[in-house]
Amino acid sequence: MADGTIQDPGYVREAFARIADRYVTTNHVLSMGTDILWRRKVARIVKSWKPRRLLDVASGTGDLALEIQDACPECDIIASDFCAEMLVHAKERGMAKTLVADALDLPFADAEFDAVTVAFGLRNMADYAAALREMRRVLKPGGHLLILDFSLPCGPLRAPYRWYLHRVLPKLAGWLTRQKDAYEYLGGSIEEFPMGQSMLDLIGRCGYTDADARPQTFGVASIYTAVA
Ligand SMILES: C[S@@+](CC[C@H](N)C(=O)[O-])C[C@H]1O[C@@H](n2cnc3c(N)ncnc32)[C@H](O)[C@@H]1O
Repeated sequence: MADGTIQDPGYVREAFARIADRYVTTNHVLSMGTDILWRRKVARIVKSWKPRRLLDVASGTGDLALEIQDACPECDIIASDFCAEMLVHAKERGMAKTLVADALDLPFADAEFDAVTVAFGLRNMADYAAALREMRRVLKPGGHLLILDFSLPCGPLRAPYRWYLHRVLPKLAGWLTRQKDAYEYLGGSIEEFPMGQSMLDLIGRCGYTDADARPQTFGVASIYTAVA
């Protein structure tokens, strides 16, 4: 597959608007709390960069942005998302700055940020490469990109994980959110999302350097970092 994807932005925005009220709880149940640990790890990595201005793209209910806000109180953080219903929760949960914005057309000048983060968001975007280039545009030269997203475990865990992803997770999420179809596409989106070396290659093609991948929890998720 080329760098493009099949995610339909209209469907994605509407699906997240429908699950916004139950998103946080559903997430923690489906990941058995591991998503909290992954976000804490990301916040520690970001803290080590000492950013002064950071943009969290596809911030949703603000889970990652809030974690970074706690870890880096001196940092000016903007939580952006194209789904206003998700951002309402980010605001209510204490996110100081939120902004409704499409990640593929960010309303910022070039080189405004020291760091850009995106957790479980890039996978839902219509064009991964265009999104990565847009994030690079708003990063200062030498600024940091961080992507946290799902991947597939290697070896014997892959088959049972796929079974959970395609058979169990949509039913469980449907029961929790009463919006089963909003989770039907999750497994497919994870299957087609670049992981490991493919993601590093994509990041490199989008103009970043020093791309690095850190698999989390047997490879169920991965943290990718790179420099603009
Ligand atoms: C799975 S949620 C992730 C939310 C949050 N980052 C987290 O870690 O929980 C994905 C978010 O990506 C947002 N999103 C998807 N495509 C987007 C785009 N093109 N521009 C901005 N936000 C987008 C959705 O609205 C949704 O809130």
